[in-house]
Amino acid sequence: MTLLRKSLRFFAVQCRNCASKSSPNVEFTASTVDIDGRKFNRDKWTNVNPNILKYLNRNLHLKPGHPLCLLRENIISFMYKSFPNHAGNPIFSVFDRLNPIVTTKQNFDSLLIPQDHPSRTLSDCYYLNKDFILRGHTSSHQEELIASGLDSFVVMGDVYRRDEIDASHFPVFHQAEGVRLFAKHQLHDIDKEKVELFENGKRTPHKQEHHTELTSDKLQHELKTCLTKLVHHLFGNDVETRWTETYFPFTHPSFELEVKFQDKWLELLGCGVIEQQILYNAGVPDKVGWAFGLGLERIAMRLYEIPDIRLFWSNDSGFLSQFQGATPNQKITYKSVSQYPQCFNDVSFWLPEGGINSSDVYEIVRGVGGDIVEQVRLVDEFLHPKTKKRSQCFRIIYRHMERTLTQAEVGKVHERIKAQLAADLGVTLR
Ligand code: DAH
Repeated sequence: MTLLRKSLRFFAVQCRNCASKSSPNVEFTASTVDIDGRKFNRDKWTNVNPNILKYLNRNLHLKPGHPLCLLRENIISFMYKSFPNHAGNPIFSVFDRLNPIVTTKQNFDSLLIPQDHPSRTLSDCYYLNKDFILRGHTSSHQEELIASGLDSFVVMGDVYRRDEIDASHFPVFHQAEGVRLFAKHQLHDIDKEKVELFENGKRTPHKQEHHTELTSDKLQHELKTCLTKLVHHLFGNDVETRWTETYFPFTHPSFELEVKFQDKWLELLGCGVIEQQILYNAGVPDKVGWAFGLGLERIAMRLYEIPDIRLFWSNDSGFLSQFQGATPNQKITYKSVSQYPQCFNDVSFWLPEGGINSSDVYEIVRGVGGDIVEQVRLVDEFLHPKTKKRSQCFRIIYRHMERTLTQAEVGKVHERIKAQLAADLGVTLR
């Protein structure tokens, strides 16, 4: 059977503005849900609410210095390095801005997920209507990307699932999806081996009916080698791993990779040999392949010792500043910040001739403010065009470890700091 490749109009559209936008424009009317100008007719499947839609466009995985962004960069650099072509360039393409609003066809049908599968239920997903959904996994994009002609790609992005809420579950999280396809000569040494990719055989626990024993063996070997290396790259060579067999509608055989943390096995990712029917449907009858999907938060929580999944959504600079400026494979251990709110005040001044040293500012702020000072940052600097005097503005962030500070008491400390800066550094307060 020959199948024509689907035309390129099925090619996934990268949402160019995603990275820069904050909340989307959402309006619920009697008959539609409007998101950034796109209208979705409401029907009995519609179960999205304004609360969940506000997470669209947050794109934590694209936010510089965010732990999920560091992890994304780390995984991509591993994939790029591990799979070079003859010229030394990476063979994997990365898609990290695909729109998370997908069709139910993409999310389920394209992956052979049966009509009565529990993952389709209203209690598990966020439906815009019977045809559109907030993607429940990055696997939604597999078929269209394969159909567009790609052999090796990684998809990263936010996924949405109705689920329990606790320290490790949140209705939005992030996944990375990897797919690698092989033509016959890429998997088998056709000069030495007289082997075929395909046969008309039987499905066994070890292989699909379409694949020869050797095809299935080699795919599993390639897949497991790649993922074991990835886990060692992320967690170090000493981490203990084990494979378990499982079931996914879109792969066979299917596996999970588990990693040992504090004496407990933690399931890290799902993977397997891509169901050949998916490749037939995508118009690629002459290749075979493997795929995997992993959750970024799960990994980042272990890597950085982040105790609660909600912290990823925090705009609190006590959280974010711990990762700012870090390199993707830098070892960082998150230090918990107080749960009491921050309170910030700025101080601006003209510098004396000869300037000042910022570290003297930090020293004085710490000396006067003591433990309630959480951070000091230079937030603005400019040169007056006429007087040629230089001005600086520092933001001082206060937070108490055991109670909420009032603005009045912070104000008093702040005034003392200002006076001390003027006296010790010769700056002119503005
Ligand atoms: N989509 C699966 C999930 O969200 C993860 C997964 C499993 C992805 C196996 C794959 C795969 O690509 O081959 O649970």
